[in-house]
Amino acid sequence: MSEEKASVTLPDGKVIELPVVEGSEQEKAIDISALRSQTGYITLDPGYGNTGSCDSAITFIDGEKGILRYRGYKIEDLAEQSSFLETSYLLINGKLPTAAELQSFEDKIRIHTLLHEDVKSFYDGFPRDAHPMSILASVVISLSSFYQNEEGSPEEVSYLNSIRLMAKLPTIAAWAYKKSVGHPFTYPDNDRSYSENLLYMMFGLPVERFEVDPLIVEVLDTLLILHADHEQNCSTSTVRIVRSSGVNLFAAIASGICALWGWRHGGANQRVIEMLTHIQEDGGDVKKYIEMAKDKESGFRLMGFGHRVYKNHDPRASVIRKKCEQVLAKLNSNDPTLDIARKLEDAALNDDYFKERNLYPNVDFYSGILYRAMNIPVNAFTVMFALGRLPGWIAHAKEYTEDPKNRIGRPRQVYTGNVERAYTPIAER
Ligand code: CMC
Repeated sequence: MSEEKASVTLPDGKVIELPVVEGSEQEKAIDISALRSQTGYITLDPGYGNTGSCDSAITFIDGEKGILRYRGYKIEDLAEQSSFLETSYLLINGKLPTAAELQSFEDKIRIHTLLHEDVKSFYDGFPRDAHPMSILASVVISLSSFYQNEEGSPEEVSYLNSIRLMAKLPTIAAWAYKKSVGHPFTYPDNDRSYSENLLYMMFGLPVERFEVDPLIVEVLDTLLILHADHEQNCSTSTVRIVRSSGVNLFAAIASGICALWGWRHGGANQRVIEMLTHIQEDGGDVKKYIEMAKDKESGFRLMGFGHRVYKNHDPRASVIRKKCEQVLAKLNSNDPTLDIARKLEDAALNDDYFKERNLYPNVDFYSGILYRAMNIPVNAFTVMFALGRLPGWIAHAKEYTEDPKNRIGRPRQVYTGNVERAYTPIAER
């Protein structure tokens, strides 16, 4: 808590002082937690653009400068030098692991990659064209029925469930894909790395040897790192608020998966590739789509553009764009949507509408091109995002649970409905 105070003058002229809180990166907040009890007023902030819901020591974003750091480490350094599991350890435990700690974390995850055999039968109930995000969320919540009444302290049970989730989510995701193509489920091969195992379970078949370009494995691992956390975004806030009611970790994470699915959030990556493909098939006239995006009547937005927090570039998008160029060149792939994406970006960045509103490509703009280069089906792009975001959700659920000041998440409202009125019996209406 800093020494500074903010004062608010109420409509009746009364002035109250509110404490100012300062974060480790000099971010300042006015603590209004006693406002209602002192004055009867609440604050109103639809979409929570100015509302801090918690203290958090996990991820720092400076949206004006385009900075993203996990536990103090720059996203660019982690993307370049770390592995997804090392980054996951960092997010969940707050420090980079030693070689022995990382080995032990990886070993623990390895022994939990199998799903209970009974889980397999759930997949029979889904239609062949089920969206994989609905399968992912359903199977994750179903895990809570397999791991009930666990022994140990709440912290130990949560930690074990975190390991289970990290281990099993790739298997759940890969089997959702297998279901959609009618292939037999591929069981995990624990000799493979986390990301390679995911690709193996998605694309491996019992009738042939599975080999994958190490570059593809490396890029997938990098994408997962870039997605791993993003402070109090929609899905993470959902995980925290759902967890705050006292539910188990599976329930909280399943709710995060549901929140991520929407087009304003993680679902944008699927929408981006659909948009780029559509523009390309429509003759590639990017100017036409830029004009449409500016026209509020059109109902069209440039998918993969804009961000609530970044008002400069999104550092994740910069890393992904570079990877895209490298990977497509190395794979000798001539994906025409990359060219459309580049032209769209150039046109938008030189257009006053986008400049005035600080709209830049976000993490989802180029990621789909990479996923497509890996043969990931378009409707599974958001599943990849969920796999990446999992350690972030776990870290936030843990931070919330360990916070001695934690309370149930329960916003208030300004009621605008009818005032009290007399009930009319149905026969008289
Ligand atoms: N295309 C055209 N105009 C846009 C766009 C866009 N993609 N994004 C924002 N705007 C305009 C918007 O119409 C508004 O204009 P005005 O001030 O004239 O009314 C202004 O920019 C501010 O937009 P907003 O919707 O109030 O901003 P927000 O912070 O509430 O929404 C957003 C952020 C990401 C939902 C939004 O930019 C958007 O819809 N982008 C497209 C979907 C997308 O790419 N989502 C992925 C986000 S990054 C990954 C993640 O979070 O998971």
